[in-house]
Amino acid sequence: MAIILGIESTAHTFGVGIVKDGKILSNIKKTYTTSTGGIIPVESAKHHDENKEQIYCESLAKAGINEKEIDAIAFSQGPGLAPCLMIGIKFAKKLSEKLEKPIVPVNHCIAHLEIGKITNARDPVMLYVSGANTQIIAYSSGKYRIFGETLDLGAGNFIDTFARFLGIGFPGGPVIQKLAAESRNYIELPYVVKGMDISLSGILTNLKQKFDSKKYSKEDLCYSMQETVFAMLIETAERALAHTGKTELLLGGGVACNLRLQEMCQIMCDERGAKLFCPKNEFLTDNAAMIAFLGETMFNAGIKIPYIRIDELDIKPRQRTDDVEVKWK
Ligand code: ATP
Ligand code: FE2
Repeated sequence: MAIILGIESTAHTFGVGIVKDGKILSNIKKTYTTSTGGIIPVESAKHHDENKEQIYCESLAKAGINEKEIDAIAFSQGPGLAPCLMIGIKFAKKLSEKLEKPIVPVNHCIAHLEIGKITNARDPVMLYVSGANTQIIAYSSGKYRIFGETLDLGAGNFIDTFARFLGIGFPGGPVIQKLAAESRNYIELPYVVKGMDISLSGILTNLKQKFDSKKYSKEDLCYSMQETVFAMLIETAERALAHTGKTELLLGGGVACNLRLQEMCQIMCDERGAKLFCPKNEFLTDNAAMIAFLGETMFNAGIKIPYIRIDELDIKPRQRTDDVEVKWK
């Protein structure tokens, strides 16, 4: 019986979530957005700093608990933008000292994957498509192994950069999905799958050239981008299913909110007799409930830093998914 508070601050979103015995009691967040340019790390950190106390209070109120009932504080240790991560770790340390409760340092990417358990997926291949990350992952002997990944840009960052050319603000994904839905006119784009990996930077250059030539509509470009890039993702995910013999595909990360991506995954899974699992959007994009959720699992496995030793803790802006020893399974 534990109550774990989770803090998320790796990039654009500051969130505080509370989990009790695997049940999500609250998941409050606020996201830094822009109307034209991309994300500026120090501005995003400022946004987190200004909103953290209020989000914390709202999260406690939504969960209906007093802060004294919290058993441990989990926070996103990395990977992420250093100025944003710093706001999260400082806040976690402050709470840990005040409440005299331990800290559980959580890997953000693995939290995106483990929250998939709420969909009842048991042993899936995971297609993790977020801003900075695009990876095909499956758990095997003690670690989350990366079967394939992007060789350059994460799919979300790729989509957001493309959106910037089109004059759309951040995040670009939801607007691009709407524009794409208005077209059925496929314009050929490079299709770049190398073994189990994909590459997106050439497609980005090609899209920019096509847009600058003024010969193509925004809708047609968005539609063609989605059809091409999603097919690349699904080709590699399907190959991972075939290779591992697993029969479940789990989606994670903000780009997985895309309805066309979900539809294409469903078609692939139906064709090969696999089952598709997809958490609700609030658990796909960055959120703190996933940090609290994995934090609780780790806490129950004894992974925690007592409040008197929190000076040893630091952020890990470049931590990789397959660096983490999964000691809680
Ligand atoms: P990471 O987990 O790699 O650190 P992140 O935390 O920035 O990245 P998420 O919050 O998981 O990423 O996802 C944000 C991304 O999801 C943005 O790039 C955004 O454009 C994209 N996105 C959100 N909704 C959609 C959608 N409907 N279609 C496509 N992309 C989307
Ligand atoms: Fe994320």
